[in-house]
Amino acid sequence: MSNQVLTMQGIYKSFTGVQALSDVSMTLRKGEVHALMGENGAGKSTLMKVLIGVHQADSGTIIYKNKPINFDSVLDAQRQGISMIFQELNLIPHLSVAENIFFAREPLKHGIINSKKMEHDAAQLLSIFDIDVKPSDIINTLSVAKQQMVEIAKALSFDVEVLIMDEPTSALTEREIEKLFALVDKLRAKGLAIVYISHRMDELKRICDHITIFRDGAYVSDHVFSDISMDEIISKMVGRSLDNHFPKRSCKPTEELVMSVMNAYRNGVFAPLNFDLLKGEILAVTGLVGAKRTELARALFGADKLDEGDIFIHGKQIHIRNPKDAIKAGLAYLSEDRKLNGIAVKMSIKENMTMPSMDKVSNRWGLISAPQEQVASETFINKMDIKTPTIEQLVNNLSGGNQQKVVIGKWLFRDARVMIFDEPTRGIDVGAKYAIYQLLDELAAQGVGVIMISSELPEVLGMSDRVIVMKEGKMTGMLATKDTNQEEIMQYATGVKDMFEHDMELAS
Ligand SMILES: Nc1ncnc2c1ncn2[C@@H]1O[C@H](COP(=O)(O)OP(=O)(O)OP(=O)(O)O)[C@@H](O)[C@H]1O
Ligand SMILES: [Mg+2]
Repeated sequence: MSNQVLTMQGIYKSFTGVQALSDVSMTLRKGEVHALMGENGAGKSTLMKVLIGVHQADSGTIIYKNKPINFDSVLDAQRQGISMIFQELNLIPHLSVAENIFFAREPLKHGIINSKKMEHDAAQLLSIFDIDVKPSDIINTLSVAKQQMVEIAKALSFDVEVLIMDEPTSALTEREIEKLFALVDKLRAKGLAIVYISHRMDELKRICDHITIFRDGAYVSDHVFSDISMDEIISKMVGRSLDNHFPKRSCKPTEELVMSVMNAYRNGVFAPLNFDLLKGEILAVTGLVGAKRTELARALFGADKLDEGDIFIHGKQIHIRNPKDAIKAGLAYLSEDRKLNGIAVKMSIKENMTMPSMDKVSNRWGLISAPQEQVASETFINKMDIKTPTIEQLVNNLSGGNQQKVVIGKWLFRDARVMIFDEPTRGIDVGAKYAIYQLLDELAAQGVGVIMISSELPEVLGMSDRVIVMKEGKMTGMLATKDTNQEEIMQYATGVKDMFEHDMELAS
């Protein structure tokens, strides 16, 4: 008796101008976590959307529990035990948590929605999964991480046999990821078949039993996970072997200062921090979760208040009260949750790239000529290998990773003097990562000050000139990259070592 629960066979799917899937197959078994891997735009999300009824395949068959199926809506699929956590969150922002979880299947009493029961059921579900939100919370008041957890609770509120997780951890902190993995282990033990899509090799290694690899919308191979090495996976994904994961740096830091930060301090969040950024330098900021790296970036950018601190760019003191001031002073911040801010999904790639304003904060730019930008954005699209038939394509229709590349592109044309990249390669496939590294190097070579916030130590070591290590809002180390290694950085990140011997508690 085979334990196969679902087989997709010979699936074809095209969109206008794009053959997203051609002759793709995949088999899922009970009680397995099955990785689906491929570069950005390879067709992973599309295949899963075909399965769950968001898209209809052009041809091909899906066999589920020995019967051919074809769902015409997500709800239809969910009712029959197939649920998906979408890469782009799929919640309705102005509705409550409970309303989202039970959307379109609210419990009724005398023909009207029984809110009490709905909130009660939602509360129960949230507590099973240990999710710290209230059923009555409105979605758009929650952090991305919490929204992600709600999305997970919603997926599991059905009687699930097949669960699809499309980059479920992209917005989660390490602690939440741990929780999620514990949950995945439990669900696997219960016999669910789980499809797990992620670009993070470390995660896949931890929880996956099987792997199917795609390239350019086509099936390449599948394997028992422990039978294949990471290098083999990568070469199957990209169709060539990647000997170098990092480009050779083309510039060295000079003596010239681009930015100085003196005694920057935010009450209860981070202790006074001091650092310089040199021309030609890539400065990494690393640390464990809770190190407050993003908080530092947000405060420098004026998105949060800096209680004290002097900031100089090219020797001139700047005063930043809000992001608008920061942008005017030549600062750019590519935030971690690109999904939420920084991109207009209902507009084309071109419009996004050439839009003179960057959401509400930036209606001050606009001095760049549109034709020039069009050429520049076309160049960028080629260079970053954004998978799209034309530059007029709506960003909505791009794969998740390709959307992120568009956001990076947007900022690049803004002539920033200091660019802060917050986890720039998260959600981005290995091939495109290389292109982003090249870009960081080029920016540095052009004299732009580059700050790279990253949790991935190989990338910190592979790309930066110096590393700031933070722990719980304090700088514990400032290291020359060439003289350090992963172990030493971890010692600073965990507080085993501390260059500045902090004994003072952070005021709160
Ligand atoms: N609704 C749509 N309209 C037009 N093209 C689409 C649509 N959805 C997906 N595509 C295209 O189909 C291809 C496959 O996209 P898909 O989202 O499946 O990639 P992916 O493997 O999930 O990538 P990522 O790792 O970046 O999330 C891409 O070229 C994408 O632009
Ligand atoms: Mg995807």
